[in-house]
Amino acid sequence: MAFTAYVFDAYGTLFDVHAAVRRHADAMGPDAEVFSEMWRAKQLEYSWIRTLMGAYADFWTLTMQALDHTFQRFPSANPALKQPLLDAYWQLDCYPEVPTVLKNLKAGGARIAILSNGTDAMLKSAVGKAGLDLVVDDIFSVEAVRAFKTAPAAYDIVTTHYRLYPSAVSFQSSNRWDIAGATKFGFRTVWINRANRPDEYVDFGPAVILPSLESLQQHQEG
Ligand code: LAC
Repeated sequence: MAFTAYVFDAYGTLFDVHAAVRRHADAMGPDAEVFSEMWRAKQLEYSWIRTLMGAYADFWTLTMQALDHTFQRFPSANPALKQPLLDAYWQLDCYPEVPTVLKNLKAGGARIAILSNGTDAMLKSAVGKAGLDLVVDDIFSVEAVRAFKTAPAAYDIVTTHYRLYPSAVSFQSSNRWDIAGATKFGFRTVWINRANRPDEYVDFGPAVILPSLESLQQHQEG
């Protein structure tokens, strides 16, 4: 059977989060890659810790706080790059296969949605800049429940909105922790293992592992 809804994580799955730093890589110098990794790791750590504490702050605030911290950890990084790095986050590149894959899935009759920790404003901006407005039917932000993934309430936004059982949703993410949360919730999950990482959270494994979104359609059987 084809799935009723294809739901995608945003950052790392549709949009390249490291594109922000790469755009300024020359000015950032040799630490650019580790800098970008730390910025992302801190942004995610803040989301999990705040959800555990019950102290929600939106993802844009966490993205800024994570960048402040990362600049302090890399004293050689030029603080003049802070604003350009933040600005780049609102217009991240999407991965090259994304527009065609989403269009084809939509042509097959499925709903196409994003479920992300990002704020509505961040997501709308990224979707618009990537030219995906017409193909993405719905953008779901965890802002609606003030809890970040992997809280079940975050995944529940989709099933409540569409009035679907979780098993009717195919959920795609490149973040293995997100796949664990979505599998536990009951979605059929596809791990987009872009970085060829070893598996983890083995008790909450994906139904399918793909190197990119390219071949998603061939794996739409449940
Ligand atoms: C997202 C991030 C966490 O939810 O990848 O889009």
